[in-house]
Amino acid sequence: MAKAKTGTVFFCKECGYESGKWMGQCPACKEWNTFVEEPVVSERRSQGAERVRVPGRGTAPVHISDISLEEQDRTATGFGELDRVLGSGIVRGSLVLVGGDPGIGKSTLLLQVCRNLSMVGKKVLYISGEESLKQIKMRANRIGTITGELLFLCETNLDLVRGAIENEKPDVVIIDSIQTMYREDISSAPGSVSQVRESTNLLMQTAKGLGITIFIVGHVTKEGVVAGPRVLEHMVDTVLYFEGDRNDSYRILRAVKNRFGSTNEIGVFEMQEKGLEEVKNPSEMLISGRPREASGAVVACSLEGTRPILLEVQALVTASSFGMARRTANGVDYNRINILLAILEKRCGYAMSRYDAYVNIAGGMKMNEPALDLAVVMALVSSFKNREVDPGMLIFGEVGLSGEVRAVSQAGQRVAEAVKMGFTACVLPRANLEKLRGEKRIRLIGVENVREAIEGVF
Ligand code: TYD
Ligand code: MG
Repeated sequence: MAKAKTGTVFFCKECGYESGKWMGQCPACKEWNTFVEEPVVSERRSQGAERVRVPGRGTAPVHISDISLEEQDRTATGFGELDRVLGSGIVRGSLVLVGGDPGIGKSTLLLQVCRNLSMVGKKVLYISGEESLKQIKMRANRIGTITGELLFLCETNLDLVRGAIENEKPDVVIIDSIQTMYREDISSAPGSVSQVRESTNLLMQTAKGLGITIFIVGHVTKEGVVAGPRVLEHMVDTVLYFEGDRNDSYRILRAVKNRFGSTNEIGVFEMQEKGLEEVKNPSEMLISGRPREASGAVVACSLEGTRPILLEVQALVTASSFGMARRTANGVDYNRINILLAILEKRCGYAMSRYDAYVNIAGGMKMNEPALDLAVVMALVSSFKNREVDPGMLIFGEVGLSGEVRAVSQAGQRVAEAVKMGFTACVLPRANLEKLRGEKRIRLIGVENVREAIEGVF
C-alpha cells in the first residue's frame, strides 16, 4: 500500500476526504479508487469555509427582528430564465458555481450575463484562465455590442486575481474556470483537489468580505460532477448545472443547490448564432416537430418547479431477437422503465419480456417526475399494438406496482397548460378529477389503473 511521502497527503477526488495513506475505497463517500496524492496544505489553510469572516459585523448575536432583508440585494440578470433558477436574480455577496460539460455554453452564458449587467450600470470583471483576450473579444462580437463597464483579465494566479478584484471593486466577477486557477502557496497542480478547494475558499472570502457576487465556472468529469471534490459544492451558495445534448441546440439550466431559492426550477435556452436565446415557452419547443400518425409517441406533462412543461415521450417496442430483451432509456430513469414494463407484463398480460423496448424523451430533456409514468406506459403499449395515440391527447399520472394510477400534484396547472397548447383530451388519475369538476375546455378522462387507461386511450 502506498504511503505518503513526507509533505504529501492523499485526498479523495469525490468528497475531499483527507488521509495519510492511500486507500482503495474512501471511508467517507464509499467511492472506489478515488485517492490522489498531493502536497500538504498548511493547517491554517485547510480549515475550510468555517473560517470565513464577514468584516463589518460584530461577534455579538443579533435579534431576529433586527435583521433586515433588503430587497435591493437582488439584481436581475437580464435573463428571466436564469433569474428564475437563481430565485429572482443574483444575490449580493453570493458565490455561484456553474458546472457543465466543455463546449456546452457556460462561457457564452456568463458573457451574456456580464453584458446585460454592464448595461444596467453594474461594473463587471470577467477573469479568464482559458481563453486569450482576443478569443473573448471574438465571442463578445458574436453576442452583440457591449457598451457598459465590462473589464476583462486573463490570469490564472488567484492571488493576483484577488488583487485585481480589490483594486477594481466590481459588482460582479466571473472566474472562468476554477480548474485553471492556482494559488502560489500551494504546490500541487491547478485543478487538483487542494488547489480547487483552497481557490474556492479564497473566492468565498472575497465574495463575502467585499459583497461581490462571484460566478465560478467548473468543468464536469465523466461521472457528471464538477471536477474537484464535492466539498466545493458545500462551500458555495448556489450550484447550477448547464446541460443538454451538444448536437442539439437546446440547453437546460438546473439548480442542484440554492441557498437563496428553490432547486426545482429549470431555465431553458437555445444556442444560436448570436449566443444563447431564452426559450420562454418550452412546451411549444418540446412538442413541435412531433410526428403525426406515428405509434409510440405520447405527450406528457412534467412539472418543473412552478412551471408545467409538455413533452413528448417516445417508445419503440420490437420483438427481441436474443434470449434477453434489450432496454434503453434516454432522459428517463432506466430502472423505472424496467418496473413499468414488469407492471405491463404482470398486471395487463403484455408479454413484454419477449420484446426489446427503447424509451426516449424528445428534445434531449432529462425528466424524472413520477407523473410521467402513465405516459411512458401508454407509449409502450402504443408501439406494442402499433396504434397511434390521439395527437390531441395529453397523458399524465403516477403508476404504482399493482398497476394503479395514483394522483399527482398540481393537476390543475398541468391541465391548464394542455388547454393553452390546444389539446382536446387529457387522461389523468381519477383521484385528481375531483378538483377539476368545472373544467369545460378539455375532455377529461379519469382512470384508476393502467388497464382502464389502455381502454380509454385505444
Ligand atoms: P462555450 O461558451 O465556449 O462553452 P463552455 O464555456 O461551456 O466550454 O460554448 C461554445 C459553443 O457554443 C461552441 O461550440 C460554439 C457555440 N456558440 C454558438 O453556437 N453561438 C454563439 O454565439 C457562441 C458564442 C458560441
Ligand atoms: Mg468556456
